[in-house]
Amino acid sequence: MKTENKISQRQINRRRTFGIISHPDAGKTTLTEKLLLFGGAIQMAGAVKARKAGRHATSDWMAIEQERGISVTSSVMKFDYRDYEINLLDTPGHQDFSEDTYRVLTAVDSAVMVIDSVKGVETQTRKLMEVCRMRNTPILTFVNKLDREGLSPIDILGDIEDKLQIECAPLSWPIGMGKRFKGTYNLHRGELVLFTPGQERLTGDTVTIQNLDDPLLDQVLGSQADQLREDVALLEGAATPFDLDYFLKGGQTPVFFGSAINNFGVRELLDTFVEIAPGPQPRAAVTRTVTPDEPAFSGFVFKIQANMDPAHRDRIAFLRVCSGRFVRGMRVRHHRIGKEIQIANPIIFMAQDRAFVEEAWPGDIIGIHNHGTIRIGDTFSEKEPLAFTGVPNFAPELFRRVILRSPLKAKQLQKGIDQLVEEGAIQVFRPLANNAIILGAVGVLQFEVTMARLKAEYGVDAVYEPVDYSVARWVHCDDRKLLSLFEKDRQANLARDAEGNLTYLAQNEWQFNYMAEKWPDIGFSKTRECQ
Ligand code: G4P
Repeated sequence: MKTENKISQRQINRRRTFGIISHPDAGKTTLTEKLLLFGGAIQMAGAVKARKAGRHATSDWMAIEQERGISVTSSVMKFDYRDYEINLLDTPGHQDFSEDTYRVLTAVDSAVMVIDSVKGVETQTRKLMEVCRMRNTPILTFVNKLDREGLSPIDILGDIEDKLQIECAPLSWPIGMGKRFKGTYNLHRGELVLFTPGQERLTGDTVTIQNLDDPLLDQVLGSQADQLREDVALLEGAATPFDLDYFLKGGQTPVFFGSAINNFGVRELLDTFVEIAPGPQPRAAVTRTVTPDEPAFSGFVFKIQANMDPAHRDRIAFLRVCSGRFVRGMRVRHHRIGKEIQIANPIIFMAQDRAFVEEAWPGDIIGIHNHGTIRIGDTFSEKEPLAFTGVPNFAPELFRRVILRSPLKAKQLQKGIDQLVEEGAIQVFRPLANNAIILGAVGVLQFEVTMARLKAEYGVDAVYEPVDYSVARWVHCDDRKLLSLFEKDRQANLARDAEGNLTYLAQNEWQFNYMAEKWPDIGFSKTRECQ
């Protein structure tokens, strides 16, 4: 028993579960690929992109992704590095899928933020950072594309501190940029890492320089040696030193510089990442907080994804293990529906492959085949009735009414909508006053994907009309009498969502606020916990 506990503690401590956040085009895919390369999960660069391209060709809705050059889907990749087991959760960069990204970020313990050194902090990075801040997720920063002429490193740090309101602690420092980019100086270890463009560098050219006055520095860097000396002297006076506790609280970000495409600076990032990023963290449930070292298994579903294997039209629910040890074939309780189920064929995802999971530990992500019973936010555990919190639905701001061209397809439409809602791809509202079906989305591309998938996968031929709503709020009221008065009075604006929750739909904020003032004892919320 004692050894088993010891093993589990070791298993927990060696796990790192994280996501990469960035504005589209900053280099997230490229960095992912290089990380996998170091982890031995892929053998050559280009594999992740190739895999994406392969998936694109498989169905119509993926074509949207391809046409627009954006990543719609997110996936999970597992790889080993040194003695660590790393779970990398991919997040869609496009803002129209921010709901999905948010939910993926509820399942990570830390994040790596990629900044394009030419562009500095961009809008989507800002939004994703806000998401990380909600949970105080620790963030490491990778400033990418140093092989191009960009902003000065000092300006980039200033930009991050200003726009993202997070303290920066540079752990490496670039020597030149663009054509004059010579490498980075590791401030922590006093080591010079030299850059050779275009190399698939798995082992680096490093020169250890304990003292910056060493003439070796001039030999290696030529005229740029003095610039480095000046920069480091400036940093010693001005830059904030790295503070592990503050980083773990989400207040400070260690910063690395490099060039993902040249595989430069990636190993430095990864080496530090595994050492300082937190392992699996405790999770809040309705009744209590669950710690990863508890012996009983528990986990929650943060994502459902369809068509991962186009040959099988499967739908996979991604579950993050929060405590205990999961073993294949385990019987667990699915709390929302109050049933015990056996997880017979759980899947684990590697870069290019999937395999059956024999066992999993806190921090790991396992894929469970979903036959229509699992929803985002669902908790699974061994015995104790638990419901993890913090996986939200956001109030949509865009609405369309579905009008079927052929009434014979009503069943297919129903099935398609049910499944897409369950995946969190779209939301649906049914007005109390009529039989309309209203779809709600946070981003317009969600409609495009929904329409394309309803047609391609369910054979639905429909028109999607704009409707005059832009605000949705979930309604709460414990006073049944008052609620029924409200329902009667405001029936024309009320609808039920897919789970039957009462929702108020308004044309605009002004109209909503005017109504809400008249009903001060009714509660309205912009987000709703998935459960
Ligand atoms: P994303 O996932 O964040 O959207 O970015 P992605 O990795 O796809 O990179 C966006 C573009 O930036 C790609 O160029 C990629 O090659 C380039 N890139 C990534 N890292 C670096 C770097 O360190 N230096 C330079 N100079 N470029 C970099 P593309 O032309 O859009 O695509 P591709 O044809 O190269 O695939």
